Amino acid sequence: MERTLSIVKPDGVKKNLIGEVIRRFEQKGLRIAGLRLINLSQTEAKKFYIVHKERPFYESLTSFMSEGPIVVMVLEGENAVAKVRETMGATNFKDAAPGTIRADFATDIERNVVHGSDSVKSADYEIPFFFSSLDLH
Ligand code: RTP
Ligand code: MG
Repeated sequence: MERTLSIVKPDGVKKNLIGEVIRRFEQKGLRIAGLRLINLSQTEAKKFYIVHKERPFYESLTSFMSEGPIVVMVLEGENAVAKVRETMGATNFKDAAPGTIRADFATDIERNVVHGSDSVKSADYEIPFFFSSLDLH
């Protein structure tokens, strides 16, 4: 059993895609272990995406991630990290496989609707960033 963190990004929340994203994860057999609607400050977004601090898109990404509410969730299941990444599709929606969330709903390389931990190691940083063990079921 594995756990991973996913986020419905501000563009996804604005487009009323919270239910659609959750439906796709549940359909893959993933179980929701934790779920919250929150606002991130840009400072918090910078801490969350600290691995990208040297990247040219760091400022823009963290500004975007703090422009409106996001849904943070912990998903649990066999190969949860890989399953979430498959369901999301490639970072650039133009490269995303048909039927993935990003292929269906993203409009821009940055505004790509969802986040998912890219490894178990990343999930081990990202899950406690938002959830205490008491909030996970
Ligand atoms: P995420 O972390 O959000 O799940 O996305 P990812 O692994 O597919 O992509 P990553 O390389 O980790 O990039 C994080 C997010 O930064 C934005 N981005 N913008 N302008 C650009 O070239 C660019 N590249 C990435 C996207 O929002 C991407 O999801
Ligand atoms: Mg990433």
